[in-house]
Amino acid sequence: MAEKKIIAVVGATGAQGGGLIRAILDDTGGGFAARALTRSVTTEKAHDLARLGAELVTADVDDVESLKRAFAGAYGAYCVTFFWDHFSPEREVAQATAMAHAARHAGLQHVIWSTLEDTRQWVPLSDNRMPTLMGKYKVPHFDAKGEANQVFTGLGVPTTFLLTSFYWDNFIYFGMGPRRGPDGTLAITMPMDDRKLPGIAAEDIGRCAYGIFRQGREMIGKTIGIAGEHLTGAEMAAAFTRALGREVRYNNVPPGVYRSLGFPGADDLGNMFQFKRDFHEMFRGARNVDAARALNPSLQTFDAWLAQNKSRIPLE
Ligand SMILES: NC(=O)c1ccc[n+]([C@@H]2O[C@H](COP(=O)([O-])OP(=O)(O)OC[C@H]3O[C@@H](n4cnc5c(N)ncnc54)[C@H](OP(=O)(O)O)[C@@H]3O)[C@@H](O)[C@H]2O)c1
Repeated sequence: MAEKKIIAVVGATGAQGGGLIRAILDDTGGGFAARALTRSVTTEKAHDLARLGAELVTADVDDVESLKRAFAGAYGAYCVTFFWDHFSPEREVAQATAMAHAARHAGLQHVIWSTLEDTRQWVPLSDNRMPTLMGKYKVPHFDAKGEANQVFTGLGVPTTFLLTSFYWDNFIYFGMGPRRGPDGTLAITMPMDDRKLPGIAAEDIGRCAYGIFRQGREMIGKTIGIAGEHLTGAEMAAAFTRALGREVRYNNVPPGVYRSLGFPGADDLGNMFQFKRDFHEMFRGARNVDAARALNPSLQTFDAWLAQNKSRIPLE
């Protein structure tokens, strides 16, 4: 039997990487093996992956030598950074640079870089429709990822650039779920007006990435945008109403109000939603649902995701 191609997965115990690990291991005849990178092989999450059949290897994206060891002997790697753990775009670029160097050092044949748009290409710092943040960014957690694309390209790493979408899981973990308004009715709040927001089940990002690895060389150098569905706030609220069996409304607010909500990163997310609203044709055009489903036939719709996850959404 031919030896399996090893995919080294950064963030394996997390959302994107975890989906990829499970997709590789679900496809027993697919010819790929999963190497889960983690900072600690002793956690319950790491043990869960090992029980499924993943190889566990210690690595830290702040430590290029650990990445070189973890990528050694692999065919490919899934590279992702963790902005919300440290809120530093410069650190994100440094981590992406470390992964790109390690990928080149290991001679990897296919890397997927989980990226987003550098919004400054559409909203230069001089454009005052939204404030400049941290001195030189408009949407820090987007801009740093987009800026890092050139590092992979410049080092000659054979890379597919994966444009991800808003996780519906944010309604569970990111405090974006329905909240009770002054009249007691539940509502989701976003500054999207009536524009559609490309969204996806976080698990499906990794499952689409697996489809990209399966397609192989033809995907190198390409930018692939994925989403499970594009929905307006009102459409998402209607889906919540159907799933929960109680009214959920869409509460539209101006981006400036969202930026001032006061939680860490509210300004970054306010600018992000404004970018997605103001450039919706470009942003949606870059994220194709049919292409995502071709890569991942089990791609979930928002209704299907809600049916599976509604009990996990904290309701005030
Ligand atoms: N939320 C959204 O809607 C959304 C949408 C698109 C893109 N994104 C982007 O997604 C990225 C996060 O991906 P995710 O959601 O898959 O992450 P996640 O679920 O938060 O998982 C992070 C995992 O990465 C590992 N990790 C953290 N720091 C590390 C380090 N220094 N070195 C090595 N591993 C480390 C941790 O594993 P161990 O503890 O096992 O090491 C953790 O389990 C962010 O940059 C965000 O901007 C988010």
